[in-house]
Amino acid sequence: MKDDEPPGGGFSTPVGSRRTFFHWVTLAAAGVVGLGLAFPLVGALVSPAFRRRRREWVDVGDVEGVPVGRPTQLDHITTIRDGWMETTSQKAVWAVKQPEGGVRVFSPICTHLGCGYRWDDADKKFLCPCHGSSFDVNGRVTGGPAPRPLDVLPSKVEGGRLLVMYKDFKSGLAESVEL
Ligand code: FES
Repeated sequence: MKDDEPPGGGFSTPVGSRRTFFHWVTLAAAGVVGLGLAFPLVGALVSPAFRRRRREWVDVGDVEGVPVGRPTQLDHITTIRDGWMETTSQKAVWAVKQPEGGVRVFSPICTHLGCGYRWDDADKKFLCPCHGSSFDVNGRVTGGPAPRPLDVLPSKVEGGRLLVMYKDFKSGLAESVEL
């Protein structure tokens, strides 16, 4: 046996095990760094899919153009963001200017089973053609199977413009439940 050979004649295990140890420490550190980078990235990609519908205020017209006490249909284009989906569609709302100055805006969907309704100026009622529900100028049910009053949409007046946040509601329920 030579002088410079380790006792036992084999290759040194302490150096080998130290190298293995550092190899695993490096791998573990790389894993931690990788996960730290991956989580925010995956979160950014996936979170919009779980995000609730996002709606925006939409300008539906000049508030001066809405007569007091007489429902007025206002058509507009609205954009709804639902996760990654962005949908732009034409909608209508019914606006009723109140004698005291505010404006009440109704969803255009009948609360019974979701048909569109119209204002009948002769009858002074909102009438739904599908199953005969009717509502007064304040949206209260006056006839037919509708289980609740017309759904009121959030609205505000800014700079003489009427702004509305369009929403959809479940039909057929006694309570107003947003979709
Ligand atoms: S959907 Fe309007 S009365 Fe049925």
